[in-house]
Amino acid sequence: MIYKPALAYNDVLLVPKYSDIVSRKEVDISSALDSTRTLRLPIISSPMDTITESSMANCMAKAGGLGVIHRYNSIEIQAQQAYQVTTPERKAAAIGITSDYLERAQALYEVGVRILCLDVAHGHHILMKKAIENLKSLYSDIHVMAGNVATQSAFEDLASWGADSIRCNIGGGSICSTRIQTGHGVPGLQTIFDCFSANVKRDVKIIADGGIRNSGDIVKALAAGADFVMVGSLLAGTIETPGDIIYASGGSRRKIYRGMASKEAQHEWRGRHSSNEGISTTVPLKGTAGGILDQLENGIRSGLSYSGARNLTELQVNADFIVQSSSGQLESGTHILSRNQ
Ligand code: XMP
Repeated sequence: MIYKPALAYNDVLLVPKYSDIVSRKEVDISSALDSTRTLRLPIISSPMDTITESSMANCMAKAGGLGVIHRYNSIEIQAQQAYQVTTPERKAAAIGITSDYLERAQALYEVGVRILCLDVAHGHHILMKKAIENLKSLYSDIHVMAGNVATQSAFEDLASWGADSIRCNIGGGSICSTRIQTGHGVPGLQTIFDCFSANVKRDVKIIADGGIRNSGDIVKALAAGADFVMVGSLLAGTIETPGDIIYASGGSRRKIYRGMASKEAQHEWRGRHSSNEGISTTVPLKGTAGGILDQLENGIRSGLSYSGARNLTELQVNADFIVQSSSGQLESGTHILSRNQ
């Protein structure tokens, strides 16, 4: 048995550093996905049925990020969604690792998808190894985004199996109940520290996936070694998300946001549920995803300037994390709100 303490985003802060950055425009937050693709904004939208279809993917590409089209549709509809993404090198879509995944991959490939996300909850698995090997032998020019993993050894294995980027974090997302149901997981920031220390070439990219609540969390993830963050809840409720607007009592307008392992999502897509490792909820309508991404970009640029960093590599080199006490965590929030209750 191994016991070790593990850190979550809220447990730490980055220590401010001397800076000679005069304007946030001097800060470059671009990040390379592989040798042919670089994202101007290191944010990827989650392959979830309440987050990413073509409208979100186009918005993400326009903002400099990437959207991964979810796989909870027929092959034809998913391929149609991918076809509607108008920036060819930003066509990314999710597939599974069993049943129709090769057929799905082929249909997506035919409409120009070259970034395939092998989207499973526990990616450190023999079926993941077989799927990566099969896809890499069938298509020489695809980027394989694999996951999810929570440990250094899982990261090392998926990298050795041929993954180009790896989604890191299990059970840390806002709608996840995996840790409650199964007792398994590792806090999200610790996962990034661990995966960053994996003994693999740095050209296998780390995607910090889930549990990111604000631009401060994004800066912490990038400083800890992530190349990208993947977000769901930050974009939930925006106009570009799939799904109808719900008129709640009191007149407020809301949209559904749900985990893909929730009973509700599984019933819709499979007609039954085999697990219950996510929840379904509604969130207020938020305006455009472009507006949210602008705010996040400003926050990230500001974060780098507090670290005296002109780019993401300098951020990682300059980063000094401190662990905050519980009083420190309270002080770091907007604490007048709790005093006024
Ligand atoms: P956020 O915090 O951005 O998290 O809303 C989005 C990420 O959560 C993961 N995801 C799930 N994890 N049960 C889980 O344990 C689920 O039902 C579920 N659905 C999504 C996924 O990694 C996503 O990017």
